[in-house]
Amino acid sequence: MLLDVGDAVESLGGRYGTGPDVGTGPADMVTVGERTRWAFCRPAEHGGSGDSSGPTAEGVLAAIGALCAHRFGSADVAGLRVTLIGLGNVGTHLAKALSSAGATLTVTDVDPGRRALADAVGATWVAPDEAATAPGDLLVPAALGGLLSPDVVPLLRCAAVAGPANNQLTGEHVAAMLHERACSGCPTRW
Ligand SMILES: NC(=O)c1ccc[n+]([C@@H]2O[C@H](COP(=O)([O-])OP(=O)(O)OC[C@H]3O[C@@H](n4cnc5c(N)ncnc54)[C@H](O)[C@@H]3O)[C@@H](O)[C@H]2O)c1
Repeated sequence: MLLDVGDAVESLGGRYGTGPDVGTGPADMVTVGERTRWAFCRPAEHGGSGDSSGPTAEGVLAAIGALCAHRFGSADVAGLRVTLIGLGNVGTHLAKALSSAGATLTVTDVDPGRRALADAVGATWVAPDEAATAPGDLLVPAALGGLLSPDVVPLLRCAAVAGPANNQLTGEHVAAMLHERACSGCPTRW
């Protein structure tokens, strides 16, 4: 299957390059790269830049800092109550960094094996279907996309959302709902 992906990417003649995402990693890009040179983040020993989740987490932390400065008056997350959904590659970096920075963490993952990380960083574990609407200052989606829908937005009990998950909104109209919510009395801290 990965070789077929490589063929498909190569057929685009460089107009699209691929890399690891949910369910794939740098080693898979070696296989994809057998059929195309447009496969990124291969392991360093294969001439690539390796796992992208660390740099992705750095970018997310910068975005969280900017958001917190805007919403809460300080980029410092110390003392903020943060709910983190997804303790995979990026989420693990975020959990450790946010915990070290003094945030109070609530976390979840559909993989119960990730609970050990929750314990290691002193986080409170909640069930996956309870996390998005758990009370807290900041919600960090770090699992799959499509978390924020017209059904979920009215139930949110957070004052800000920032995270790495791709396509967090189910549609552009959800952005308008979030904006309206922020303008109509949503608390600055929850
Ligand atoms: N890895 C990167 O460099 C990178 C870059 C940009 C964006 N992203 C995006 O960030 C998100 C996380 O990527 P990743 O590389 O950490 O993936 P990952 O596969 O390593 O981790 C995803 C985690 O989410 C968990 N999960 C899946 N569905 C869930 C649910 N409904 N509730 C709670 N947990 C759930 C999985 O069990 C897994 O632990 C994805 O949306 C990805 O597209 C990743």
